[in-house]
Amino acid sequence: MLSKFCKKRIKNNKIIMATNRFITLDEVIIQRQSAFKYAKGELSRLLSNIGLAAKIVNNSINRAGLETNILGATDNINVQGETQQKLDVFAEEMFTKALQASGMVAGIASEEEDDIIIFDDELSLNSNYVICMDPLDGSSNIDVNVSVGTIFSIYRRISKPGTKVVKEDFLQPGNKQVAAGYIIYGSSTMLVYTTGLGTTGFTYEPSIGEFCMSNELMVTPEKGKIYSINEGNYLKFPEGIKRYLKYVQEIDKPTSRPYTSRYIGSLVADFHRNLLKGGVYIYPRTASSPNGKIRLLYECNPIAFLAEQAGGKATDGYGHRILDIVPTEIHQRTPFVVGSKEMVEKVEEFMSEYGD
Ligand code: AHG
Ligand code: MN
Ligand code: MN
Repeated sequence: MLSKFCKKRIKNNKIIMATNRFITLDEVIIQRQSAFKYAKGELSRLLSNIGLAAKIVNNSINRAGLETNILGATDNINVQGETQQKLDVFAEEMFTKALQASGMVAGIASEEEDDIIIFDDELSLNSNYVICMDPLDGSSNIDVNVSVGTIFSIYRRISKPGTKVVKEDFLQPGNKQVAAGYIIYGSSTMLVYTTGLGTTGFTYEPSIGEFCMSNELMVTPEKGKIYSINEGNYLKFPEGIKRYLKYVQEIDKPTSRPYTSRYIGSLVADFHRNLLKGGVYIYPRTASSPNGKIRLLYECNPIAFLAEQAGGKATDGYGHRILDIVPTEIHQRTPFVVGSKEMVEKVEEFMSEYGD
């Protein structure tokens, strides 16, 4: 018999208990397959393989503190100009292997690679999908046991199956994504994904080694109380962002401050919290980074798709919907404002009034 507390939690979190047992990621993917435009089971198998790679990476991340060869930095600087962490490399390898093994992916664009990765085995060459991914998001948090993530984004290729993928296959606007999601390796591990039919969350159940549905339909509050931004960059922010920050800090009487600041430095973790609780994540352009820091293909597009599917909003702060930006290069960056609809719109208001 479920306690009152449990029932309330289940109601609030929309945990599905109807069948009185866990519903796994694979089962949900198969159940929903028929609702998908290209229902041949390819995307289902692909998502399922992503789930498998997530379990492998999760296992290593959980044991990171005990393994001497997995924590810390490598000697490499990646194409983003950032020092690669050993787990960045490991996560990329695991996801790349799983995606190639699925035979459903013709190529990958990864935050960690200079160029696109082309799969030229026969199965992959003839497949229909390409993937953009940030294998490990929040690398700077790995060594200190703070949540990190993996972000992925799936497109149908433009080039003909049977040929090698080309850069244009990856330079599609985010509104062409057929699926996107992330895995958050946090206090529990979760996989959150969308195929355009809402945003759904699964929690990893280690005892059975499966992702089980925990949040069937994630709906983000229209208004939130949390703002997430690296205020260490304050002096370099556009005037509109500085004014917005003053607005959230000064609004109302000091006794009833409605807003609170939370920033981890892992986009996945900051976004996930705001998705559940209501909030806005902002990474604006700064004097030293005129395009901001967050990468359009690997981070902004998938997160924007998930946000919109949960009733939220994602823009660049200058009135442009993230999903409509047409990329011109794979490592393109963009200023990024994402989260609860009304909060994103408030940031937009300040940006349009005060600008850079
Ligand atoms: P990554 O670890 O994949 O390079 O991404 C880090 C990103 C994002 O996750 C995070 O929100 C942001 O960079 C943090 O940047 P700052 O340290 O400049 O705040
Ligand atoms: Mn990242
Ligand atoms: Mn990364």
